[in-house]
Amino acid sequence: MNETPLLTPRQLILRILAVLLATGLGVLQALDWLGWMPASTARIGVTAALVALCATPAIYIAVVRAFVRNRDLAIEQTTRLAMTDPLTRLANRRHFRDVLTMEFARHVRSKATLAVILVDVDHFKAFNDTHGHLRGDECLQQVAEAIAACLQRPADLVARYGGEEFVVILPDTDLAGARTVGEQIRQAIAGLAIPHGASGAGETVTVSVGVAADHCTRRASAMALVARADELLYQAKSGGRNRVVSGALAQIPATPPSFGTQLGGGYRSGNTHIDAQHLQILGDADRLLLALAEPDSSVEFETGVVDLLRHVAIHFRDEIQIIRDLGFPGVEEHAREHKRLLSKAARQLEDFRSGHISSSALFQFLARELVFEHVLLADSEFFAFTMAHATAESGAPAAGVTPPA
Ligand SMILES: [Fe+2]
Ligand SMILES: [Fe+2]
Repeated sequence: MNETPLLTPRQLILRILAVLLATGLGVLQALDWLGWMPASTARIGVTAALVALCATPAIYIAVVRAFVRNRDLAIEQTTRLAMTDPLTRLANRRHFRDVLTMEFARHVRSKATLAVILVDVDHFKAFNDTHGHLRGDECLQQVAEAIAACLQRPADLVARYGGEEFVVILPDTDLAGARTVGEQIRQAIAGLAIPHGASGAGETVTVSVGVAADHCTRRASAMALVARADELLYQAKSGGRNRVVSGALAQIPATPPSFGTQLGGGYRSGNTHIDAQHLQILGDADRLLLALAEPDSSVEFETGVVDLLRHVAIHFRDEIQIIRDLGFPGVEEHAREHKRLLSKAARQLEDFRSGHISSSALFQFLARELVFEHVLLADSEFFAFTMAHATAESGAPAAGVTPPA
């Protein structure tokens, strides 16, 4: 990616001085040619005014316009970098979420079918262990290029979802079409014939693919579509890897939806303590939703919020301790995100108690940002890691960890 060098303040001042000097010399030259060189104070004043008059548009054209254009390019570059994964140059997870949210809303309006594909490199940890991280990075770059080459339409998006996992958004695509693309991706990566050969893996690098597609409705959510794709990816993994598993979004039940039922196989971390706490939090969210639906239940709702946040705070502390003990490389960033979410939750609860926000606004934050986007999505970033360490010892709570109530 070409990056435009920014103009420094020194360069800007030098440009202004150069324009002033050139204009001044030009004006003096013109006056000399006209035989009207300044000799008196009045003439010096008139000359200065002429220089200022001529220099103003010149400064605008040579300096201000260039500066504005330069600043716009810098903003564009910064925005693009903020949306890009530095290793693969694909869209990053943040950009994927923005596009998914936008596309889901658009598909709810158009009643069209939206598809999400999750692609995961098989036995990637073993690949890194065998060939080293440098080769691992090269492998991810090749896989990223191969996936991007399988997408034909401008609106299709591929992003790095995290680690060795990639996600594809296919607007206006039904399940059969999305499955075809998923199969093309699987074959394209097999066709790269990147040598693997680590213990338990095949001769070459392969991927497992989960494909979910369905009509978007107001009762479903974009995150549920991703959760479904992740569940299908898990099935592809557990079914022997190097395969595509596809399916529609699970039917929304007539009874109030349960967050707990959305904890599919793909959302198991492999650590029993973390999984138990996640289930507890999802159960809290279920109860909160039921309380919200009941008339005159503000006390019950507030008690439910306090319970949920208490369990979340304990869980956040335990989770960080567990993944830190296991050596998860992204632990500090994850801890910062926990801290941010807890601070925001405390502020939202305060706003709710003081009447500044409604119960449904508070629930919206808790259900979407805290439960869906963090517990169901962000946490999955370390699941492959914890899964790899899921031995009898790591499955038990670490010392000092409080078991769920
Ligand atoms: Fe968690
Ligand atoms: Fe977490």
